[in-house]
Amino acid sequence: MNRILDAITRRGVAGAVAQGCIKVARPLLDLRMVVRYRRRIDSSVRPSSVDGYRVEVLSGDSIPAALEEALRINPDSTQTPEDVQLLAVARSRSDGRLVAYWGFRRDKEDLLDWGLHVAPEHRRRGITKALFAVALAAAPGDGWVYTGTDIFNLGASRTMNALELVPFQLRISLQTVGGVRVVRQWRL
Ligand SMILES: CC(C)(COP(=O)(O)OP(=O)(O)OC[C@H]1O[C@@H](n2cnc3c(N)ncnc32)[C@H](O)[C@@H]1OP(=O)(O)O)[C@@H](O)C(=O)NCCC(=O)NCCS
Repeated sequence: MNRILDAITRRGVAGAVAQGCIKVARPLLDLRMVVRYRRRIDSSVRPSSVDGYRVEVLSGDSIPAALEEALRINPDSTQTPEDVQLLAVARSRSDGRLVAYWGFRRDKEDLLDWGLHVAPEHRRRGITKALFAVALAAAPGDGWVYTGTDIFNLGASRTMNALELVPFQLRISLQTVGGVRVVRQWRL
C-alpha cells in the first residue's frame, strides 16, 4: 500500500496507473522499453584506478575463459557470449576474483554494448567508470560507443549520465500473440 501511495505522490494518479499497467503487461507480452545512449569515443576519458581492484581490457583468446567467469557473477543473464570482441573486467586485488565486466562488440570504429554488470557488494566504488575508461582507451579512432538501459533501471540511467553518454533513442518492443516481435523506435 505504501509503495502505491509513494508512486502516486511521485508520478500522479495517471502516471502511477500507467506504470502499474506496464509492470503487469511486461512479463505477459515480453514488453521491453530501452533508452539508447551514445557518446563519441575521444581521449578526454582518462583511465582511473580504483583502490582494491585491478581493471584491465581483454581481447582475442583471453576473452572466452573470462566471459565464463563473468557470467557467473550475473546468473540472471540471458546473454550469449558470441562476438564479444572487447571485454573490460575488474578483479579484486585480495583474491583475484572477477567482480565486474563490461563487454562490447565492435563495428568498424564503434563499440556496441554487449553487457555490463558489477557484483552488488562492489557497486558505487567507481568500478564502472574505470571499466568505461579502459574500454574507450582500447578503441582509439573516431567512432561512437553505444549502450542501452531499461527505462525503469534508474541506477543504470544515472550511471550513463555520469559517463556523459547522451540518450538518443527510445526503443519499445513487444512480443505479440503470434510470437512476432514488433519494434518501434523514436529519436529523443
Ligand atoms: C549500473 C551499474 C553497472 C553501476 O555500476 P557501479 O560500478 O556501481 O558504478 P560507479 O560506481 O562507477 O558509478 C558511476 C556513477 O554512476 C552513478 N550511479 C551508479 N549507480 C547509481 C545508483 N544506483 N543510483 C544513482 N546513481 C548511480 C553515480 O553518479 C556514480 O558516481 P558517484 O558514485 O561518484 O556518484 C551497477 O549498479 C550494476 O551492475 N547494476 C545491475 C546491472 C545493470 O543495471 N547493468 C546495466 C545495464 S545497462
